[in-house]
Amino acid sequence: MKPPLRIETARLVLRKPVAEDATAIFEAYAQDELVARYLTWPPHENVEVTERVVAGCIAAWEGGARFPYVIELRETGAVVGMIEMRHDEFRVDVGYVLAREHWGRGLMTEALREIVAWALSQEKIYRVSATCDTENAGSARVLEKAGMQREGILRRRAVHPNMSPEPRDCYCYSAVK
Ligand SMILES: CC(C)(COP(=O)(O)OP(=O)(O)OC[C@H]1O[C@@H](n2cnc3c(N)ncnc32)[C@H](O)[C@@H]1OP(=O)(O)O)[C@@H](O)C(=O)NCCC(=O)NCCS
Repeated sequence: MKPPLRIETARLVLRKPVAEDATAIFEAYAQDELVARYLTWPPHENVEVTERVVAGCIAAWEGGARFPYVIELRETGAVVGMIEMRHDEFRVDVGYVLAREHWGRGLMTEALREIVAWALSQEKIYRVSATCDTENAGSARVLEKAGMQREGILRRRAVHPNMSPEPRDCYCYSAVK
């Protein structure tokens, strides 16, 4: 799979990260407890943590299995989130995060629709999936609005350490062709 380095939507630019994104990502959302609530990582304690994460995101593009995109607002160039594809055989799994200041404007639905459409347009990709904590109603709604169907509950599927040290139930969603 060869994802484009840059994808544009009506309001967004999705692009491969660069090291200089770390400060903006830290300030926009990575240190925010509410943003991290249902995620697999704790809020970043300092920008050095974000720098390491961003370096891992850049390196991931070379590995060929994980493709994280920075999400930028087209109008201002502000870095507001990330969305990533994880490729395995004929499947792509998707994860995403958006700065709290920009929630509720349909931005992640817009980004996710584009990613799902791109993935399913690839000849050898048949399935796009995503999981979310069963309490993460906003994320479940985004997945539905992007045209994905809820397949069921994966019990005790993931640890979301900001909720509990124990693994939690997650919804599984997919779009297929
Ligand atoms: C989940 C998240 C990506 C949503 O991004 P967004 O750009 O605000 O999403 P959209 O505006 O496209 O759509 C959100 C939808 O969820 C709904 N929603 C939001 N919070 C909700 C809640 N607590 N209960 C029910 N619905 C909720 C909104 O009303 C909207 O639906 P609508 O258009 O039918 O009104 C964003 O909140 C986020 O980054 N959260 C933190 C990180 C995270 O949880 N990532 C996903 C991990 S699986």
